[in-house]
Amino acid sequence: MSTEQYRSDNAGALRIADVGRIVQLAGWIDRRRDHGGVVFVDLRDASGLIQVVFNPDSYPNDEQTISELRLEYCITVTGTIRERPEGTRNPNVITGEIEVVAESLMILGSSAPLPFQLNDRSDTEEIRRLEHRYLDLRTERMQRNLQARALTARAMRHTLEGMGFLEVETPTLISSTPEGARDMLVPSRLRPGTFYALPQSPQLFKQLLMIGGVERYYQIARCYRDEDFRSDRQLEFTQLDIEGAFWTQNDVLEAVEKIITAVVRDVRGIELTTPFPRISYADALERYGSDKPDARFGMEIRDLSQLFAGTDFRAFAGVLSAGGAVRGINAGAMNLRRSALDALIDRAHELGAKGLVWVVVQDDGSLRSPVTKHLSEEEQTAMVSALEANPNDLLLIVAGPQKLVESVLGQLRLDLGIPKGHQELSFLFVVDFPVFETTDEGDLVPAHHPFTAPVDIEELRSHPETALSRSYDLVLNGSELGSGSVRIHDPEIQAEIFEILGIAPEEAYTRFGWFLEALKYGTPPHAGIAIGMDRLISILQEEPNIREVIPFPKTQSGADPLTGSPARVADLQLKELGIELDPEVRKAWEDEPS
Ligand code: AMO
Repeated sequence: MSTEQYRSDNAGALRIADVGRIVQLAGWIDRRRDHGGVVFVDLRDASGLIQVVFNPDSYPNDEQTISELRLEYCITVTGTIRERPEGTRNPNVITGEIEVVAESLMILGSSAPLPFQLNDRSDTEEIRRLEHRYLDLRTERMQRNLQARALTARAMRHTLEGMGFLEVETPTLISSTPEGARDMLVPSRLRPGTFYALPQSPQLFKQLLMIGGVERYYQIARCYRDEDFRSDRQLEFTQLDIEGAFWTQNDVLEAVEKIITAVVRDVRGIELTTPFPRISYADALERYGSDKPDARFGMEIRDLSQLFAGTDFRAFAGVLSAGGAVRGINAGAMNLRRSALDALIDRAHELGAKGLVWVVVQDDGSLRSPVTKHLSEEEQTAMVSALEANPNDLLLIVAGPQKLVESVLGQLRLDLGIPKGHQELSFLFVVDFPVFETTDEGDLVPAHHPFTAPVDIEELRSHPETALSRSYDLVLNGSELGSGSVRIHDPEIQAEIFEILGIAPEEAYTRFGWFLEALKYGTPPHAGIAIGMDRLISILQEEPNIREVIPFPKTQSGADPLTGSPARVADLQLKELGIELDPEVRKAWEDEPS
């Protein structure tokens, strides 16, 4: 066999109509079975797999080569397609009606013994798979995820191009953009002692593009944030970043609906209904106890404060007189044993609540609960009615400061109600976020970022803690997928916001003087959003972690076990950058094996 050509066909594209054709295929050995001289090999390429039969009668090559074949050897095979004999067809494989009777074979690349079973994840530690990510990527699951990623980007580009958007790249060596995380820094060799920051997002550049007359911008942008890992966070991740001049909030939300509808159609084959529901931040907290509500299920939080206003039950009365709230959810018929109910109380404690009252509605409508005796008939009836309870339903009630009650019930709701997997897709927008959040220390920090326009500047001046902003989030199945806002386009208001945030004018000038200067030159009103691509794709692919949809992700500790980053560098490199290591850090370096 010559190597002038490696293949005539893709394995996964062959069908019964190809019977009788002589084909040349190239790919990897997915499975190998030896049936006393006749060797069956599943040959896999990027399109799928097909069974190849090496029969001593039809196969003239030396048997030695066939006996050498092992899993994941890369080979090219020539042979004739034939229909599989009755009883040996495999309905689970698309090429399962046919097979290739091999006539010649060439090993293109042999494989060392595999460090783990490719298609069996059960006993492979993730770090092993990441060390050999190129092998992991060969699996069907990873191939599907890569395809979904490419389809997502393609559908986004296609939709945005159709809407007249211009794809523009922005730099990745910049000065810091505040998005609330720590910057990843890159030292400058030419100006030792100075650092570039990697962008936490292209935020300020896209705003500069609006000032620069690009009326519709988009970019599939890599962002870098040095923040704690979670299943939906990475140090580097990808956003679909968009911005439009002369745009209102509604323009942004409608554009997002178009983009998401196209992506979901292409990746999941589902036609979404638009407009997506829009819910205010205040309502989201009140009804779901979260600013990223999972609306695939009800179990909404109901306020019971009014109906317990005159209660004799001391735990509730005390909380209400201190200005707190009593709220509850109806978790439905859960038939929990006493120990499971006690576990719910422990969970509520763990979430910060002083206690949790559980109530089970019995068949005759009476209530079973440790606190029934403290509640009047009227209170019991009113509670059952407020929570729309039926026999067997479990009602959970928490009393305390309002924010705490919201967060505890919001989490219990998720613990008890969240559906498995992501078959159903519930997109919604949360709107009317406050401009600021108050930290536990009482400081105001931007709920979004400091370039977000307030709804009413007078309100912002008089009541900064409660003033609303023109910002919005896109939420899917309880995950924050995207955030955006109408921006401040007036340099004076921007400077004022910095001041309210406690950034002194000199500091604002040093950090963002260039941006405040740019705003002075006829800045158009503008608005935009960024959608986390990794999160979107992981949910569409029903993956539990965004690492599964990132070709080469980092581990929880920020390392890449494949290439060994982050890595030490030569002393000379440090010297050129004017960097000296802390002696303790250097000692730790020297003590540790490299
Ligand atoms: P924000 O900071 O909310 O907004 O980010 C937008 C979206 O990016 C995704 N995301 C992440 N994904 C993976 N790992 C991370 N560490 C990570 N951090 C954020 C989320 C999030 O909703 N410049 C603004 C957008 C704008 O105002 O237009 C911004 O970056 O899905």
